[in-house]
Amino acid sequence: MQQTLVYVHSILRWLILIFLILSITRSFSGWRTKRIFMSNDRRTWLFTLIFSHITLLLGLYQVFFGRYGIFTTTLPAGTHLMKNKFFRFFWIEHPIAMILAIVFVTLGYGMSKKPVSDETKFRKAFIYFVIALLFIITAIPWPFREIVGRPLFPGT
Ligand code: HEM
Repeated sequence: MQQTLVYVHSILRWLILIFLILSITRSFSGWRTKRIFMSNDRRTWLFTLIFSHITLLLGLYQVFFGRYGIFTTTLPAGTHLMKNKFFRFFWIEHPIAMILAIVFVTLGYGMSKKPVSDETKFRKAFIYFVIALLFIITAIPWPFREIVGRPLFPGT
């Protein structure tokens, strides 16, 4: 069960990245070509929002009750949280950066409902989605990262 939740959390990263990149390209092209805001734009932004919010819920569960959760793990004796790269990453850096990313995804999606011109919708959403992408890319435990690195696909 615990392992399955980590798998789902890990796989959702790819859906978020795919939909976030689609949202970025659609908002950029919409902004630059001054086209009208369409239901396909809203749908793409909505999927980005949904996948990132599901990942947030799974992440909150992991960070508190997961196999290395704050309530289920004791730090190795004599270690300080901020000096332990592994726990500092999974308890602090990863959650904070990802929560910020999800705030920006939510702000981006929120532009679809704002009573502003389509050009403003696209331009602001583009900025929010790019910021979200930067946070996500830097906070993913990519396999090449020392100590915290995880596989690209669960179980590999
Ligand atoms: C865009 C959002 C997020 C993405 C793309 C993401 C991505 C990932 C990935 C790829 C892993 C490695 C999974 C594996 O072992 O294969 C991971 C692990 C983890 N994530 Fe996230 N994450 C996100 C949000 C969050 C949030 C918001 C939290 C906490 C509030 C969180 C907490 C954790 C924890 C604690 C682990 C380690 C789980 C374990 O190994 O038991 N994540 N995340």
